Amino acid sequence: MCYLVGMNIREEIQALKRQRNAVILAHNYQPGEVQDIADFTGDSLELARKAAAVNEDVVVFCGVHFMAETAAILNPGKTVLLPTPDAGCPMADMITGDQLRELKAKHPGAKVLCYVNSTAEVKAQSDCCVTSSNALDVARSYPPEQEIIFVPDQHLGAFTVEQTGRTFILWPGFCPTHAWMTGAHIAGARAAHPGAPVLVHPECPKAVRDAADHVLSTGGMCRHIRTRTEPVFIIGTETGILHRLRNENPGKTFVPLLEAAVCPNMKKTTLEKVLWSLRDNQTVVTLPEAIALPARRAIEAMLAV
Ligand code: 13P
Ligand code: SF4
Repeated sequence: MCYLVGMNIREEIQALKRQRNAVILAHNYQPGEVQDIADFTGDSLELARKAAAVNEDVVVFCGVHFMAETAAILNPGKTVLLPTPDAGCPMADMITGDQLRELKAKHPGAKVLCYVNSTAEVKAQSDCCVTSSNALDVARSYPPEQEIIFVPDQHLGAFTVEQTGRTFILWPGFCPTHAWMTGAHIAGARAAHPGAPVLVHPECPKAVRDAADHVLSTGGMCRHIRTRTEPVFIIGTETGILHRLRNENPGKTFVPLLEAAVCPNMKKTTLEKVLWSLRDNQTVVTLPEAIALPARRAIEAMLAV
């Protein structure tokens, strides 16, 4: 259904965006057509930084729930809209506030680092958040002898331990989309594309990280590839990023490590839902102050590192 007569859906979104003084932020895993109408596309850290600095009154967040929640926590004066309120992150739901409370009670001297892929309730009980692009720097900002609980991603946690020499108490969470990848996928992709570098996300299991050439966040992959001259790259993460990589690097070829590495929640966003979100002011992301304030402290501690 057309809201503004004579316009196509992209033009309608742009018109409504101007009318509402809104900005559209999209994660690198969003469907291509959503990335194309966004004002900014990036990884979790880039989006958190962007969300903390927007001038517009309304932020339309094309991503999953914890990302929009982070934007709302960082921008209490703005309206943050999530076009897909049913888009959760299974990894974020693998630890509850009560479970973290119990773990902290067993390790009273420990600091808690939590991956931003977590609920606001978990962030509220954490000392500092991390993303896949700054986990190593955040871990190194603590003294080596500091006991650290890391939740919820066991793989990003284990990768951080390997790289920093720190000892973490790990929670056994994982990303179902990345957990499917194996070392055999890398061997197959290398055989099919000899010489092509393999880039994988730190949410991948150890066998995949060990067999790859580089372990990088989605934003890290985009930056790394800009500096390289190889013609073909094998990409071990959610396949939405291939749209951005192909747009930004027209002369290069990008091969997914696993075609089926699709995050169903990231793919819930459509242009229609973005339009309806702006038109009907749906769904506004709000949080109780008692959760938002301590969660904000943990996110700001991360942004300060
Ligand atoms: P990035 O921060 O690397 O974009 O990762 C976010 C995410 O959800 C990975 O599954
Ligand atoms: Fe969560 Fe994995 Fe989807 Fe990222 S790709 S949002 S970690 S389920």
